[in-house]
Amino acid sequence: MQSITDIDLGTKKPSSGKTITLEVDGVAVSVPEGSSVMLAASLAGHSVPKLCSTDTLEAFGSCRLCMVEIEGRRGYPASCTTPAEAGMKVRTQSSRLGDLRRGVMELYISDHPLDCLTCPANGHCELQDMAGAVGLREVRYGFDGENHLHAEKDTSNPYFTFDPSKCIVCSRCVRACDEIQGTLALTIDGRGFASKISPGQNQDFMDSECVSCGACVQACPTATLMEKSVYSYGQPDRVVETTCAYCGVGCSFKAEVKGNQVVRMVPNKNGHANEGHSCVKGRFAFGYTTHPDRITKPMIRKSIQDPWKEVTWGEAIGHVASEFKRIQEKHGRDSIGAVTSSRCTNEETFLVQKLVRAVFQNNNVDTCARVCHSPTGYGLKTTFGTSAGTQEFRSVDETDVVLVIGANPTEGHPVFASRMKRTLRGGAGLIVVDPRAIDLVRSPHIKADYHLQLKPGTNVALLNGISHVIVTEGLANDAFALERCDPAEYQAWKTFVSQAKYSPEEVEQVTGVPADQIRGAARLYARQGNSAIYYGLGVTEHSQGSTTVIAMANLAMATGNIGREGVGVNPLRGQNNVQGSCDMGSFPHELSGYRHVSDAAARALFEKDWNVTLQSEPGLRIPNMFDAALDGSFKGMYIQGEDFVQSDPNTQHIEKAMSQMECVVVQDLFLNETAKFAHVFLPGSTFLEKDGTFTNAERRIQLVRKVMPPVAGLADWEITAEISNAMGYPMKYNHPSEIMDEIARLTPTFAGVSFEKIDKLGSVQWPCNEKAPEGTPTMHIGGFVRGKGKFVLTEYVATDERTSRKYPLILTTGRTLSQYNVGAQTRRTANVVWHEEDVLEIHPHDAENRGIKDGQTVEIASRAGKVSLSAKVTERIQPGVVYTTFHHPDTGTNVVTTENSDWATSCPEYKVTAVEVTPVSKPSEWQEHFREFTEQQEELLAQRVVSKP
Ligand code: SF4
Ligand code: SF4
Ligand code: SF4
Ligand code: FES
Repeated sequence: MQSITDIDLGTKKPSSGKTITLEVDGVAVSVPEGSSVMLAASLAGHSVPKLCSTDTLEAFGSCRLCMVEIEGRRGYPASCTTPAEAGMKVRTQSSRLGDLRRGVMELYISDHPLDCLTCPANGHCELQDMAGAVGLREVRYGFDGENHLHAEKDTSNPYFTFDPSKCIVCSRCVRACDEIQGTLALTIDGRGFASKISPGQNQDFMDSECVSCGACVQACPTATLMEKSVYSYGQPDRVVETTCAYCGVGCSFKAEVKGNQVVRMVPNKNGHANEGHSCVKGRFAFGYTTHPDRITKPMIRKSIQDPWKEVTWGEAIGHVASEFKRIQEKHGRDSIGAVTSSRCTNEETFLVQKLVRAVFQNNNVDTCARVCHSPTGYGLKTTFGTSAGTQEFRSVDETDVVLVIGANPTEGHPVFASRMKRTLRGGAGLIVVDPRAIDLVRSPHIKADYHLQLKPGTNVALLNGISHVIVTEGLANDAFALERCDPAEYQAWKTFVSQAKYSPEEVEQVTGVPADQIRGAARLYARQGNSAIYYGLGVTEHSQGSTTVIAMANLAMATGNIGREGVGVNPLRGQNNVQGSCDMGSFPHELSGYRHVSDAAARALFEKDWNVTLQSEPGLRIPNMFDAALDGSFKGMYIQGEDFVQSDPNTQHIEKAMSQMECVVVQDLFLNETAKFAHVFLPGSTFLEKDGTFTNAERRIQLVRKVMPPVAGLADWEITAEISNAMGYPMKYNHPSEIMDEIARLTPTFAGVSFEKIDKLGSVQWPCNEKAPEGTPTMHIGGFVRGKGKFVLTEYVATDERTSRKYPLILTTGRTLSQYNVGAQTRRTANVVWHEEDVLEIHPHDAENRGIKDGQTVEIASRAGKVSLSAKVTERIQPGVVYTTFHHPDTGTNVVTTENSDWATSCPEYKVTAVEVTPVSKPSEWQEHFREFTEQQEELLAQRVVSKP
């Protein structure tokens, strides 16, 4: 079903730069070569009736409603499948065409329930529209014959229904699932009159392979596939374009709204990151925004043992300001700090770091990127000169070989994964480096050429092995590397990787990946054409995370796979605005635009604009803040939408640190795990309740538009500004666009960015400045941002986290499609049906050795702690390795993970924890403590002193 504002041109618009001219109903029209007659007619302003075609799918030609007459041709060809030709003369209307089309419509309508008045699609149904368009006035065939009117409805999916009685078997849903989503969950079962749409093998949607992306619902021209929310609320009456607040793909949506009720989120066809596609989270999982758990009044309490007290915004802000001032007076300037949120907008994170630097007068600010992609920032800045990915998503269309390392795009970045799968189905080579057999390794019409199933923690050794093959077999692109990089450094790198210790045979000993596979993968990556690297947290969350990023950059430079479409080194960034929060200066050592705080010229710019003196020494990173809290020197913290008690490693260490502080201020939607240690709770706003921008993994800045007022009265940027005002430093902004103007004024890579420009262009990829006024889709064309590309030697150093007799297995963690990170949002939606609990994947051999059966409760024990959860025995995981997710706080996965971290950035080594797994029958001690503490905190919330309305 189209969005209420979309125009459907009928068939896809080819990208050909060459145009041809033809005549439609006497109107001359020029169209790109390869266009259909239907598209030409649409562009000439003469739309042709249609049912089975839509401009997001390949034409199929099954409904025959789009017949036209073409001068010099016999019959009535279908305009959707007939290519437009130069000089063609097309007629879209004639009395004969009218009769034929009415005949087609009659057949459809004679097998369609005529319940239009009570149908959820009433007024927005293409079948209804077409009946009107062809002038259908009567249906000669009654409903007495065989029909599908009583076909049973499938309501198994929590978000949409499938009502086969309304199905016209146009196959748009099947093609959407194949072409757009790439899951191939739907088929047409049977032939002729008996043909029907079938998920999987005649299963219902929930039992099929369907991943609930909604592409079929979007494509369906009738109410056959329909959002349940439209059944509940009726048709929306207004539309607001905004950006998804889940992952770093940054899908653009049209929020379709009735009053202040979001009826549905429709992926935006014109969205530059998603081009009309979505996943189950952005498309359907917005119910958390109105969940009763949301806290909508500011609250304070003296200690975490006290009940909360609701207060006015004025009281809450005043309390925060006076507490922070008191703490600084008593414990010194550096005794407080803040953490910015990668879920909040650029403008909001910018203000928090400004608060810290200009008002707290220190640099104690950090962000969750510390625990995910900080090594990306370090590694890419060191080698290329910019702390960000090199390409736009569209680039993968031009890729010949895709190397996916430490990322699971179909679960973590699903909309980009669908695009990548199109390239792979088109024949691109695929190398997957992952300890697990992720979906990409084998999915419909896709099979990885190489799945390098390495031991967790050995990425650097493997990449050095691949580099060894490339260099020693003469596969490097010397001309490119010598021209674009420092020749001496390049030569030193070649000598380094050529060492015998990085030969495939030696590397096999370390990684467990057979030497011939290393050789094959290296040859495939280095073969001529475009090779692109896509990576995720399986690269960064290691003790050598930064080294691995550097090793990938070396590989790209050595093979000339950088600086054009189809290549590059591309981090699949996690949270919706993790790129933005880093860009905005959320790290303790960097001002916005990645300028070190020790850079006097950069500091001077800010000092002049902000009228303050800034500190030149980097502040505390998140783990240092916890350590300082434990040693008594760090006492106050302002946390903007971040739940590190659940998300950061070694939970018990963090809990102790949090308990030591005097004023913990949490600004969030829910009383999350971190908020249970808070003294002040400031109710935050969802992405639907504010204006601003998010920056996705492609460096693409997109607008977030207010759909409704903030339920607690203030948007997050307003809260930060109020704290600053109360602390005596005025922050006066009328609108977030003014904050972006300040960012642009102070940040060279953002110099040309403004809300007005983003609104006009749809999105802007930084750098955007005088040199690139409309932004930069591809980085490092013709030269690196840092000048010469820098090769850095990447010695493999094994992690300190070793397996032992006591802890013989390696635990690695990741996430699922339906849940998002700590699950604060997705757990409060119907998405829980797909992932009700975290489970531990274990290989059958390891399970058998330990007497573990599928579904049994087991305990994972590490040097840091123990938790219990259910086991899932599966061959997806290799022997010696176990895997789980961290979406549910009561699992406490991060009780087990340790404090080992990346040498350069302190990014935790989530991906490697030595553990033992044993069958148990009860929760762990920590889990018991967690349950009691949660009950106590929920009770304290329930007992809160409620403010008068
Ligand atoms: S479910 Fe909708 S899209 Fe699929 S065949 Fe039926 S009418 Fe067409
Ligand atoms: S929701 Fe997505 S995955 Fe499921 S059947 Fe429809 S298109 Fe396929
Ligand atoms: S892929 Fe990411 S940005 Fe797109 S809809 Fe899903 S969660 Fe949102
Ligand atoms: S729209 Fe052309 S055949 Fe259906």
